[in-house]
This record gives sequence, structure tokens and C-alpha cells, in this order.
Amino acid sequence: MQRHDVVVVGAGLAGQRAALAAIQAGRDVAIVSKLHPLRSHSGAAQGGINAAVGKEDSVETHTYDTVKGSDYLGDQDAIEFFCQSAGPTVVEMEHFGTIFSRGEDGSLARRPFGGAGFPRTIYAADRTGLALLQALYEHLGTQPYTLYEEWDLLEVVVRDGRVQGIVALDRRTGEFAEIAAKAVIMATGPAGRIYGRTTNAHSCTGDGIAASYRAGAFLKDMEFVQFHPTALLESGILITEGARGEGGILKNASGERFMTRYAPHVLDLASRDVVSRAIVTEVKEGRGFPGGYVHLELMHLGKERIESRLQEICDFSRKFAGVDPVTQPIPVMPAQHYMMGGIGTNLRGETNVPGLYSAGEAACVSIHGANRLGGNSLLETLVFGRQAGEAAASYVATAPSPVLHETDLDQAVTPIRSMWGRTDGEDPQRLRTEMQTTMDSLVGIYRTAGELEEALRQIRALRQRFARVRIADTSAQFNLNLIDALETGNMLELAEVIVVGAIARTESRGAHSRLDYPKRDDVAWLKHTLAARGPGGPVLSYAPVTMTRFEPKERVY
Ligand code: FUM
Repeated sequence: MQRHDVVVVGAGLAGQRAALAAIQAGRDVAIVSKLHPLRSHSGAAQGGINAAVGKEDSVETHTYDTVKGSDYLGDQDAIEFFCQSAGPTVVEMEHFGTIFSRGEDGSLARRPFGGAGFPRTIYAADRTGLALLQALYEHLGTQPYTLYEEWDLLEVVVRDGRVQGIVALDRRTGEFAEIAAKAVIMATGPAGRIYGRTTNAHSCTGDGIAASYRAGAFLKDMEFVQFHPTALLESGILITEGARGEGGILKNASGERFMTRYAPHVLDLASRDVVSRAIVTEVKEGRGFPGGYVHLELMHLGKERIESRLQEICDFSRKFAGVDPVTQPIPVMPAQHYMMGGIGTNLRGETNVPGLYSAGEAACVSIHGANRLGGNSLLETLVFGRQAGEAAASYVATAPSPVLHETDLDQAVTPIRSMWGRTDGEDPQRLRTEMQTTMDSLVGIYRTAGELEEALRQIRALRQRFARVRIADTSAQFNLNLIDALETGNMLELAEVIVVGAIARTESRGAHSRLDYPKRDDVAWLKHTLAARGPGGPVLSYAPVTMTRFEPKERVY
């Protein structure tokens, strides 16, 4: 059995930054990742990272924009800390070797992003996540740590009221293994593949969130699912908000710049929930293009600017939509993009389970509340990755040695063996597709009680069918049929939490927009949803939002 002080699950920006902090505190650290670190979904983040470094900007304004963007559901103490940490975090990443784009005077270039009072999104063309990931990975390479690459997390072991380690699968050999650890940091990213139309990579299946939930962690605010306004029509590939930050314009089929009606002050750069709702409304009310989409126009920006600042989206548009943004509009519609909810943590990354920490999109601190601002996600991975790494490092100094038993492995692996043993049963891929169809059609941008109840019925039926899932491929090495089943089981569990939370929240706030409860209700609902795993499904309770300086106001853009 392997043994480490701290095991970080996930090797994206949050996981790597957490690992770095724990190593620098003198701990023996391992990273467990189902992907090569440079293939982590952090690398897909295009537009940039927020920091109030401009002369006209301020930490206070960044804080206010984030609170307002969250529709007042973000915890203001955490948001203040987050925005104060932004400048030093960006400087640190530059010192680690990130090559950010520059302005004429050589200073860090910044572009406007949705819901932000000033241009404060620092970028590396439209490959910011990848630039950060490469620099951090190189820097981490100078440090001692163990990497379990292409290992899948199965379960977190909790006994005697604290974490003892994990059980995982080595994809390359097909062997199951225990790794003992005093602390586990869950940095496994999102679960966007619960939806069919998503900007998330295929790897974003919420494995760490689901395993933490099974281990007793509360999931917080899971009903808040962000839809990015501009994803390519067929494929759902992200077309960065940076495109609108550079001056891109949304138009309906009549050539009207429709955002003038929805956000008269900031137009196309309203926050994402507002722009996504506007696009869907245009299409539903018959003002979209046949087939249901709108146009994002960049042509007026000129070839030089488009090709230098938006290289990646040029490539994507040309290859996946057959349009050249230099001369043609890009067909776009919203797609699932981000989960504001996740494993509930405080601002040190601590969960309610001693020894279990979380950071990045898997976690909910909460700084994004009901709606995240673009550019705050990359920052979150680095700020709270470091926080979680430092907190875990200090916890292990006094935590008792972890103890794992053979039965821990057996418990995690027995359900898998029964999936293998079946000669007849459900195909995991089919269940996954049906779940995605349910979530796309019934748990989208606009929600109603009737649709949500129907979604819950369908998801619960899928969970029952999942109990009879069959893994037809019996090979040991790289058994993707097995991985598919494990991921589908995790996503079904999380889909149920999303839907149950959405049914309960009878108001509209941020990305949770109920047609049957169209108003925000601060009297009844200015509170976080907490979901604990019960025998019959999620058990909900509620926790107060931390307010410091900003009283809730009507949110107008
Ligand atoms: O639009 C984008 O580039 C996405 C950025 C983000 O989600 O922060």
C-alpha cells in the first residue's frame, strides 16, 4: 500500500497549486489524476484571469462586481479575500513563467469581461488556461512529489471521524489500490458532462464531488449551473467571452443588436446568466435563425485583431462550424459551462469531514454564489488551491497516522465486480446519454416545477437502472467501459442533487431562473443549500450567506 501525508486528486490548476503549497510546507505529497496534468480541463479556459491591477480599477470594485454577479449569494468575506489575493496571484504566475499578452506600453494587457466594472481580465490571447497550466506544471516539476497518472478515484475512506486515504484504479494495469493519506484534497473539477450540450471536456464527470458526497461531505448550492452564452452551435465548443470583450456583438435574425433591450448599459457584456437568458428568449420568441441560434459578429474588429487575440476561436469556428470569423458571423447558443456549486468548503478549503479539503470548480467556497463572473474561475483555482494545500499541510502535522484495511478496498471494488459479473444489464453509455437528454431538456436556463419534477422522476429511474449496469468489456487494461460506468454512476448521483436543490429553491436568482417564481426572494432564499447524502436521496438543509459590506440590491446591467 502506498502512503503519503497529502493526496491531491486532480492535476489541473487547483490540484497543482494545492500540491505546490503542501510540498513547500514540507509534506510528502502525491497527485492522483485520471489524465496527464497538461490535459486537465483548466487548459480549456480561454478568456483570462481577473485581477484589479489597472490604475483606474480597485480591489473594492472587483469585490463589488463579484458580489453583484453572484446575485448576493456569494460569501462576502471569501470574496474580499479572493479579490485581495488576485494581484499577487497573477504576479506569482508570471514569475513561474506564464507569458501573458501585453499592451503597447508593455504592461499586462486587460480586456473587459461580462459583469465587470473595468477591463480587468488579464489574458494570454485566448489560451490563458493553457498558458497558466504549462507554467505551473513546469514549476511543480522542480519539486518532489509522486504522480499517479491515469488513476481513477473510486472512494475516499473515512473512519473514526476523519479521512484515512483513498481507493483508486490504475487504468494502465486495471489494478485497484489503496493509498493511505492523512489529508485528501479534492480538485477534480466540474461535472459538466451531466449535460449533453456543454463546453466541458469529456473528463468532467464530477468523480471527486460524488466520492466526497458519499464520504459524508455536504454539497453546497448545486442547483446553480452556469450556461455560457456563446458556445458553437453544433459542438458546444466555447467561444470565449473575450470575443465580446474585444468588441464582438450579438445579433438576432433581423440583424438587431438585441442586448440593447436586455442590458441597456453594458449590452453584450452583461453577466452570463443575463446574456444566456436573452439569447434563449430571442430564439424562443422567434427572432433567432432557423434551427435556433443567434450570431456573434466579430468582422468589424478586423483580421489582425481577430487573428492575434482570438486565435483559438478562429480555429474552432473554421474547423467545427465551417465559418471564418474574419468574414462571417459565428452561430452560437448557450451551453452548460460551469457549476457554481460543489463540495462545501470554508475559505481554507476545509470541508465538514476532517482531513478532506477541496478547491477549484469541484469546491464551493462560496465566491460565485448564484452566478460566476468570467475570469474569476482561473483565479479561484490558484487562490483556493494554495489555501487548501496550506490548510491540509498544517492539519497533517498533528493528525494521527491513517489506517486502511483490506475491507476498505473490498467495499469499493465489490460493486464493480458485480457489474462485471452480469451477463445481462444496462449499458452505461446509454444511461449517460439519457441522463444528458433529461438535463438538457428539463433542467436548463429556464426552469419550472413541472419540468424539474419530471427530471427528478427520470433521473431516479436512471439511478435504479444503474443498479443493474453491466460492464461488457472484461479486460483489465484501459477498460473504458468500466470508466464509463463509474463516471456515469457519479454523474447520476450529482444530477439528482442538482434537481432536488432546484425544485426546493422557489425563487429566481442568478443562473437559477424559475418561470414559476420569477423574482429573487431575499426574505426566504438568501441562504446556501446544503445537500447531505441520505438513504433515500439528498437531504437538504440551509446555511446563512456571510454579508460584510454589500446589502442586496436589484441587479441591473
Ligand atoms: O469565456 C471564457 O473565456 C470563459 C472564461 C471563464 O469561464 O472564466
